[in-house]
Amino acid sequence: RRYSRITGTGSYLPPRRLTNDDLVAELAQRGIETSDEWIVERTGIRARHFAAPDVASSDLALEASRQALQAAGVAPQDIDLIIVATSTPDMVFPSTACILQNKLGANGCPAFDVQAVCSGFVYALTVADAMIRAGAASRALVVGSEVFSRILDFNDRTTCVLFGDGAGAVVLEASDEPGILSSDLHADGKHVDILCVPGHVSGGMVLGDPLLKMDGQAVFKLAVGVLDKAARAALDKAGLAEADIDWLIPHQANIRIMQGTAKKLKLPLDKVVVTVDRHGNTSAASIPLALDHAVREGQVRKGQTLLLEGVGGGFTWGAVLLKF
Ligand code: ACO
Repeated sequence: RRYSRITGTGSYLPPRRLTNDDLVAELAQRGIETSDEWIVERTGIRARHFAAPDVASSDLALEASRQALQAAGVAPQDIDLIIVATSTPDMVFPSTACILQNKLGANGCPAFDVQAVCSGFVYALTVADAMIRAGAASRALVVGSEVFSRILDFNDRTTCVLFGDGAGAVVLEASDEPGILSSDLHADGKHVDILCVPGHVSGGMVLGDPLLKMDGQAVFKLAVGVLDKAARAALDKAGLAEADIDWLIPHQANIRIMQGTAKKLKLPLDKVVVTVDRHGNTSAASIPLALDHAVREGQVRKGQTLLLEGVGGGFTWGAVLLKF
């Protein structure tokens, strides 16, 4: 049988790092009051990175991709599929994947974006896995890349303290051994309004609000319930149990959502990869960023069983279970 397997990981954070205190000081200049204490207590976030104004998602994706390719020992020309998960693309079109492809020098292979907000990476990985298993690709580059700082309303303290910029990437190759064991994806469009950027481009203008809106409590409540179900469904499909998971690598939105999910899965917190404290919520980039950090810090090792899971605007959610 033909499977797909991750053979290299990479990530990139833009150099400008803002601690909570840095952000508190910047927001104070706008008359917006917040504190390190509030942010840490409610979210677990201590710092985030923001890209410079002239840096786009494809630039962050390029750095992360180069690292992942190097880790896999694969040259850009040998990639035969590029999927970028992003909700902050460089342009309305073409896709960030096409722009990344050209920057990498991997021209010719199919390249497209997947837009599932913070679930984007588990969606993209599932699509790449299906294409590899079907024989449509053999060596895919799957990237999550975001510049959420561009769509934040810095007059809204309930959202602007939560997000950061960054990118993560994996090389996914055809393999005789699994690899990706199972996947479980969902969406429920009736929840569009609880997390959205409602503006759109029309007649040469942006119509509507181009900044992020979120009902934090509604998102919180939905997130813990759906993540638990998706995790269990992915385990069932692979014939595995919670105890078989070596590492849970959740979307890094909020430490309390991660703790809630781990508790429901009866997983001790030392089996959860946490980077939200250092990265904030980087949307589709958060899972591959966390994965790459855990690999480079020696936490995640070859042969271990990983459960990746994401939840985000749409509402979308999903889980991917894999043997690393
Ligand atoms: N600093 C200080 N006070 C604040 C801040 C802030 N940054 N933001 C809100 N507050 C205040 C509120 O005004 C409110 O004050 P009040 O009681 O006087 O009215 C109080 O803090 C409590 O506000 P809540 O919104 O009830 O706070 P909550 O405990 O729900 O925490 C949070 C808010 C952190 C947003 C939480 O709801 C949450 O984490 N939700 C999930 C969000 C999430 O993970 N989103 C990402 C999903 S993934 C994606 O697709 C992008």
